[in-house]
Amino acid sequence: MFKRFRRLRTNETIRSLVRETILTPNDFMYPLFVKEGENIKDEVSSMPGVFQMSIDEIVKECGQIQELGLNTVILFAIPDVKDSVGSECLCTNSIIARTIKAIKEKYPNMYIATDLCFCEYTDHGHCGIMDPKTQSVDNDATLEISAQQAIVHAKAGANMIAPSGMMDGIIEVLRTALDKEGFVNLPIMSYSTKFASAFYGPFRDVAESTPSFGDRRTYQMDVGNRLEAIEESLEDERQGADILMVKPALSFLDTIRDIRNNTNLPIAAYNVSGEYAMLKLAGANGLIDYEKVMMEKLVSMKRAGANIIITYHAKEACKLLQGN
Ligand code: PBG
Repeated sequence: MFKRFRRLRTNETIRSLVRETILTPNDFMYPLFVKEGENIKDEVSSMPGVFQMSIDEIVKECGQIQELGLNTVILFAIPDVKDSVGSECLCTNSIIARTIKAIKEKYPNMYIATDLCFCEYTDHGHCGIMDPKTQSVDNDATLEISAQQAIVHAKAGANMIAPSGMMDGIIEVLRTALDKEGFVNLPIMSYSTKFASAFYGPFRDVAESTPSFGDRRTYQMDVGNRLEAIEESLEDERQGADILMVKPALSFLDTIRDIRNNTNLPIAAYNVSGEYAMLKLAGANGLIDYEKVMMEKLVSMKRAGANIIITYHAKEACKLLQGN
């Protein structure tokens, strides 16, 4: 006798009773991009619905997203001044520090994670201090200034630090520095398994962080590597990461599952800019049902094993989940 799977699919009530994976507004973290100035809200042409905003606009935005039940953001900054070591982000009065303080003043409950990297702050657009000999990022020199950047974020009131530069040893260095300054309860979400992906293109438009020469393959991971992907995340767990991450998400759902099967830590999936842009364009051209495809891809990340989804779709998804 064969099994009749269709018995549990006859109407929406029974389908929802047996549904294994559902999305809620608590699953999402929403990326925000801050720029110097006032009254600035510039849409990014490659990412419709995503804006570069001045601090005053970011604060307004936080009010709106809280109304959607969205309480968690991850902040990126676009400074006015860039140099070879990214000095801007090492000042106590950096654009990120001022943004965190401004949000917290108006919305103290907003949970703010900060992306910790140097590519937005350096004139060469790489993720740290360059080693002139190798023409690549100097790992250990970058660790030192990363600790400084983390302390700036922490002192400004960040709730979580998310290092994204793919420097070896960064979690241990940040944990030690944060603990020494008394931030023992500040969690670190590591971009632990981050691939050298071509899906970051639109992000680099919005963050103005395209490398002026070369690419990121000497520090970000090779997209063909499955076992190394697990090792990268497990090493960051050993160093003290509180949350691990896989980035990008869509082409790496297998990696999310691999890591899920090897750790008990929470996992974040970063649904990156290129994934967002492709869907927007396909939707705008009537090729797909945008909202349905969006929810299908978001649930696929959770089903693969992610607990947190960092996504530019967060607002749209929350609106749909609220039924308006
Ligand atoms: C910074 C950083 C990048 C992204 C997040 N943090 C870009 C990169 O590594 O080039 C990409 C996010 C996206 O594409 O949405 N290093």
